[in-house]
Amino acid sequence: MNLYGKTILITGASQGIGKAIAVKLAEAGGHIAFTYLSANQSDIMNLEETLRNLGVKTRGFHLDVSDFTSTAKVVQDILQTFGSLDVLINNAGITRDNLLLRMSEADWDVVLNVNLKSVFNMVKASMQTFLKQRNGSIINIASVVGIRGNAGQANYAASKAGIIGFTKSIALELGSRNIRANVIAPGFIASAMTDKLSGPLQEVWKKNIPLNRIGLPKDVADCALFLASDASNYITGQVIQVDGGMLT
Ligand SMILES: NC(=O)c1ccc[n+]([C@@H]2O[C@H](COP(=O)([O-])OP(=O)(O)OC[C@H]3O[C@@H](n4cnc5c(N)ncnc54)[C@H](O)[C@@H]3O)[C@@H](O)[C@H]2O)c1
Repeated sequence: MNLYGKTILITGASQGIGKAIAVKLAEAGGHIAFTYLSANQSDIMNLEETLRNLGVKTRGFHLDVSDFTSTAKVVQDILQTFGSLDVLINNAGITRDNLLLRMSEADWDVVLNVNLKSVFNMVKASMQTFLKQRNGSIINIASVVGIRGNAGQANYAASKAGIIGFTKSIALELGSRNIRANVIAPGFIASAMTDKLSGPLQEVWKKNIPLNRIGLPKDVADCALFLASDASNYITGQVIQVDGGMLT
């Protein structure tokens, strides 16, 4: 699998799963446009240098993906800078966990806006390009929690279930133009998002993983490479779980 000649846009790639995807796809020869929100400038420059050293074009763009107007503008900048766009990976996401009884309206709104509205924003801003070239792969990062629900994460689970419904719908709308849309649903992956959970809670999650280990960002990146590459040319509208068998 290789991505020579393709340009890939990844949201929220300054750390964690997004960063691992950026590195993996650059190793496969893809040019990488990525967005970040709150990383410090030297981390962004280091990531750009790492990717450039792999022999590809790259640039980071500051963007709050929940903002429709800014997203449209940044995607235009990216198109001008790179001259094309072949793969869109919606990775940016947040949690604001609480039991529903204690969940505030603000925690509901911010999670739905950052996790779900952002996917609408990014696809709307990119789809004309995909339509014109009659080619494109959209990869949306959801979660197994969007399939089975999770106590304390009603907002997050709703946003991730929404991503699945959105992706299946656009796969139906855009398939005739050779634009594919798929979901990766990670299970429990080591990152800043899961580092927040207590040790005992992490152990409970691990006990439910048949492959008997917590996932790594690289595990998700391997799946993203497959969906970005021509090796998955006949796959659309699917949800691929990268969860060590947790949800079977
Ligand atoms: N870690 C896991 O176990 C796990 C499991 C299932 C799904 N996921 C999903 O994977 C994706 C990546 O998560 P991660 O584990 O790497 O977490 P992370 O917290 O390390 O990374 C999240 C990224 O999203 C960015 N981001 C947050 N709000 C943003 C905004 N408004 N605009 C732009 N960027 C924003 C952050 O800056 C960061 O780069 C998320 O969508 C998450 O929901 C993670």
